[in-house]
Amino acid sequence: MVVRAVLVGLGHRTACYASYARHHPEEMEVVGLVDPDLQRLGIFSEKWGIEDDSCFISVEELVSQPKIGDVAINGTMDEVHVETTIPLVKAGYHVLLEKPIASSAEELSLLNDAVKQTGVKVVICHVLRYAPFYRAIKEKLLDGEIGDIIHIHSTENVSYHHTAVAFIRGKWNRREVNPIMLAKCCHDLDLLCWYKSGTNPTKVSSMGGLHFFTKENAPKNSGENCFDCSIERECEYSAKRHYVDNKKWGFYALAGQKNYERGELYTEEEAIEYISNNEYSRCVWKCNNDVADRQSVMIEFNDGTIATHDLVTNTARATRKIQIVGTKGEISGDMVSGIFTIRKANATYGRDFTEEEIDSGVADDLHGGGDLLLVKDFLSVVRGEKPSSSTTTLSDSINSHLIAYAADFSMKESKIFHFDNN
Ligand SMILES: NC(=O)c1ccc[n+]([C@@H]2O[C@H](COP(=O)([O-])OP(=O)(O)OC[C@H]3O[C@@H](n4cnc5c(N)ncnc54)[C@H](O)[C@@H]3O)[C@@H](O)[C@H]2O)c1
Repeated sequence: MVVRAVLVGLGHRTACYASYARHHPEEMEVVGLVDPDLQRLGIFSEKWGIEDDSCFISVEELVSQPKIGDVAINGTMDEVHVETTIPLVKAGYHVLLEKPIASSAEELSLLNDAVKQTGVKVVICHVLRYAPFYRAIKEKLLDGEIGDIIHIHSTENVSYHHTAVAFIRGKWNRREVNPIMLAKCCHDLDLLCWYKSGTNPTKVSSMGGLHFFTKENAPKNSGENCFDCSIERECEYSAKRHYVDNKKWGFYALAGQKNYERGELYTEEEAIEYISNNEYSRCVWKCNNDVADRQSVMIEFNDGTIATHDLVTNTARATRKIQIVGTKGEISGDMVSGIFTIRKANATYGRDFTEEEIDSGVADDLHGGGDLLLVKDFLSVVRGEKPSSSTTTLSDSINSHLIAYAADFSMKESKIFHFDNN
């Protein structure tokens, strides 16, 4: 069966998931588009050969017509996920929805109720569950390799250039809209809950704050904008270095630049002209950011397991790390290397432990190869096939989000958050 997909929110994430249809036309076809931005609508309709009568400027306009597809891929920005998904669900579209699902527990429950009433499938883009690295670890846990989990510690290291583009200059820099533990680490919290499936969180505490990317730390002689700054050539946060010289993060810094959106060549002059006039050239110490630049969370589950997650920004190298200690052994690894190690206590012949190194096979991809495997799995869920162990439906994803909201509360109020349903 070829699943007919309507793309909702024509940004870089949706483009990534939609590319599955190019690789597997026998499984998925793009049949409709929704975006209030007419430039993006025009570019995507050319790219996918979609006629005007299947292009819409809102989900309300789409659902006012008879259904044109089987599924919707919703890659809108965080703050409109729920308001755009509820009409799709009510109209009978199965939805692949970007994370985070919702910005509050109240919004999350509105969507959950709508999904329960209609019975459609809503799968959340927790792409890391599909990354071979995390999946291979899950299989070892399911096989009982390290016994019952006692403790998990995970870390996300967000590189200095990713921190600058997304959480200082960019779309996720305001805490009220996107608390960083929700925006950046709902994946990691989801992994903790997935590894601990069958249990629920009972308590959450968190500390963190914004202490480095503040006006007080601006270097002497720094300008307001990288293209008008006397120390730009010696600054590791230079917009010109990141987005023009190194051609990184164009899907944020050049979003809206016509040639970039069309996937055409653009000149260095065009890029400089565009970025010097948008928010991506602002000095990293003089932006309107108020999200934490570090945050740690501690979670207690109802079987006594403790999990901790550290979000660390401004690291030289981006990666995620995990250590899981169980009753019969431990697993530790680094996602970007793709390698994890299983160690087991072994006191024979003067040794302390045995050690096995496992290469999960995917390295140097920050989603560990998960993006398109997620689409593949979503399509099989829609076709009614047996879901994989990675499938993350709305109900599976609730705990990770409740932990993220609780962490933000705890950090702000300096209080432990107690879940009252356990
Ligand atoms: N799964 C992941 O690992 C991952 C990684 C990065 C971003 N994200 C998430 O993906 C989502 C999309 O991020 P992006 O950078 O691709 O966004 P983007 O800004 O590139 O695209 C969003 C698009 O949605 C459109 N839009 C706005 N309001 C709309 C509405 N009411 N109806 C339909 N379309 C609307 C915008 O015009 C824009 O074209 C975000 O929620 C983000 O947090 C997820």
